[in-house]
Amino acid sequence: MSLRYSTQLLRRLAIPLVQTSRQAHKRGKATMVSASLRADLGTPSPVITSALPAHHLTAKVIFDSNMTADFKYIWLRDNCQCSKCVDPSTKQKLVDTPALDVNIKPLSLTISENGMLEITWSEDGDIHKSEYDPVWLHKYGQSFMHNSFESDMVDVDQVYQRPEMELWDRTTIWANFPEMSYKEMMESDNGLRQWLDLFYRFGVAVLRGVPTEENKIQEVVKRFAYVKETQYGLTFDVINKPVEGSHLAYTGVALAHHTDMNYREKSPGMQLLHCLKANDPKLSDTDPGGRSFFADGFRIARWLEENEPAAYHVLTSTPVRFAIKNEGQQYSALWPILCTNADGDMTEVHYNNRTMKPLQAPTHVVTPFYHAHKLFSEKLTEQSSGLEFNMVPGDLVAFNNRRVLHGRTAFDATKVDRHLQGCYVDIDEAFSKYDSLRTKQWSTQP
Ligand code: OGA
Ligand code: ZN
Ligand code: ZN
Repeated sequence: MSLRYSTQLLRRLAIPLVQTSRQAHKRGKATMVSASLRADLGTPSPVITSALPAHHLTAKVIFDSNMTADFKYIWLRDNCQCSKCVDPSTKQKLVDTPALDVNIKPLSLTISENGMLEITWSEDGDIHKSEYDPVWLHKYGQSFMHNSFESDMVDVDQVYQRPEMELWDRTTIWANFPEMSYKEMMESDNGLRQWLDLFYRFGVAVLRGVPTEENKIQEVVKRFAYVKETQYGLTFDVINKPVEGSHLAYTGVALAHHTDMNYREKSPGMQLLHCLKANDPKLSDTDPGGRSFFADGFRIARWLEENEPAAYHVLTSTPVRFAIKNEGQQYSALWPILCTNADGDMTEVHYNNRTMKPLQAPTHVVTPFYHAHKLFSEKLTEQSSGLEFNMVPGDLVAFNNRRVLHGRTAFDATKVDRHLQGCYVDIDEAFSKYDSLRTKQWSTQP
């Protein structure tokens, strides 16, 4: 089985990659393995075939048994076995654990001639060298092991070819505003590819100058996919039509940052909102309200992981129930607010205070959950995190509803005539079109 690491992953690595070729190392190790058969058990000692830096401050160590283990750098540094870190005579630990930088990264990561994992650290200008015996690593790394390479295997036919997602905040999104004219997107394949590229990389892409006709949104979608029908129909209208027991979106109240339909078995991946009517803020002195805002949930999650790892852990591991009952129907689903895959990469955000049900978790999790939820929400709503603008008639915003959170400020429904038409699309359909346009682009290039 071949093992490929994505360019995305490798580009994120901040330290040089030193990988001992599996075969070369095996040849070199052959005598060592047989010589180190454990006399008592008769089982061969584990051999490290390669070690390389992986993302999330991790060293990925691959053993000859095809087991891989992800060792966090902080754990490795804390458990250095050198004579400065463990007293040779008493074997008691000398490391000042709380003084270590939890985000520590090594200068280098290699496998020594005698098969040890060697790590060099820089600490306040001093060099500290750690050596880890493969038997020791294998023993203490049991809980970091995964069997086989599957979780980090990258589908070279597809994902490998897509660009890196670009996590954004207010400054970076405005520096590179993801927008395009309706005409360009509708009339040329190049335009459509570029628009889908914006949507893929930023999780949000705007179209300008979309004719303000009802159901135009469906024509836009037909350009690359088809509408995903939901309990709200093929499309839905965000207008002020309060119906008792219906939906807060259909009033003038503010909608805080959220993702839609977390109560479904799978929340829709792509959402589009087309502005048919709105009061133009440029034409009045006072803010008419109904201002749209967006924030990159993946960036907020990354921030939390790097700065508040305990909160990140709580939000990635505590399932929360989302439910809704309206117009005679009911739905309910259980999701962690932040969903990750086996590699620890963010895959989905589920966040909507309006549909989140009372937390049901062990008592000791309740306070940490509220603490983590608050940290996430504070970062989310910081002005520097968000993209905020007034949609004007003719604007259409598409966003990845499992990554980008959206919301709107309140407006006075008696004064503001606002009408957005919205719909959902299966996101893999959009990405499928994106992939095929990219493939076509390559095949037509000389
Ligand atoms: C919604 C919603 C946004 C808006 O209906 O779920 O987020 O700008 N609407 O009204
Ligand atoms: Zn040490
Ligand atoms: Zn919404």
